[in-house]
Amino acid sequence: MTRSANVTLEGVYRHFGKGRSRVDVLTNISLTIQAEEVVALLGPSGCGKSTLLRLIAGLDVPSDGVVMVDGHTVTGVDPRCAVVFQEPRLLPWRSLRDNVKLGARGEKDDSAVDELLAEVGLAGFENHLPKEVSGGMAQRTALARGLAGHPGVLLLDEPFAALDALTRLQMQDLLAEVAQHTAATVVFVTHDIDEALHLADRVVVMAGRGEGIAEIIRVDQPRPRDRSHPELAPLKAELLARFGIH
Ligand SMILES: Nc1ncnc2c1ncn2[C@@H]1O[C@H](COP(=O)(O)OP(=O)(O)O)[C@@H](O)[C@H]1O
Ligand SMILES: [Mg+2]
Repeated sequence: MTRSANVTLEGVYRHFGKGRSRVDVLTNISLTIQAEEVVALLGPSGCGKSTLLRLIAGLDVPSDGVVMVDGHTVTGVDPRCAVVFQEPRLLPWRSLRDNVKLGARGEKDDSAVDELLAEVGLAGFENHLPKEVSGGMAQRTALARGLAGHPGVLLLDEPFAALDALTRLQMQDLLAEVAQHTAATVVFVTHDIDEALHLADRVVVMAGRGEGIAEIIRVDQPRPRDRSHPELAPLKAELLARFGIH
């Protein structure tokens, strides 16, 4: 098992385009995420959440500044990081088992993969094709595929946004379990304040595009959390107020 990794962003900038069409998406972002921490990135659409996640994953490089995983500058796709996207991105002609295998570094035997599938609640579905299972189950498969490489950092970009409300809550609980049981540091993007407060040790609230981090809210409540815990209510009010909702 890979040990969890810390993530450091130092003075990170990312802009796209040139001249008058230049868009400054990330401006001077500095953030340190501890190993084994669960961090939510919350913010309005277009503020640069996905861009930030892609920089950590090594899918993109900053215009300026440094992104480090465990003290090493990220310069390309980083094998210590796994990414789960909003859509499961499974190969439709491959079984769930074979899709999960794709996330493993090197050879992975069937029993290890099946164990992972069981962990995400998919025992008995190993030989199914993606089209034969629900959206939630496909996303569980994507999560198992992400875990198959024993990542030090698990990055998730609005992983449950496409799911129905109930499935979404179940997936949140699954992610809480996964965060507990794997050694991975978890960074996830969400629009959902409840989701952020249910899962994260810290909620990083991003301001508008190019405006950086607005605030960071610490959630001290131990995980797994009771969704109706009274200590979460004032944090929710604070976050809602931040988005102009009272
Ligand atoms: N590769 C790219 N080329 C040009 N513009 C981009 C690129 N990636 C992101 N952007 C722009 O950066 C802004 C932030 O995008 P994104 O990080 O996807 O926001 P969020 O995930 O917070 O909704 C958007 O205006 C988007 O159009
Ligand atoms: Mg996004």
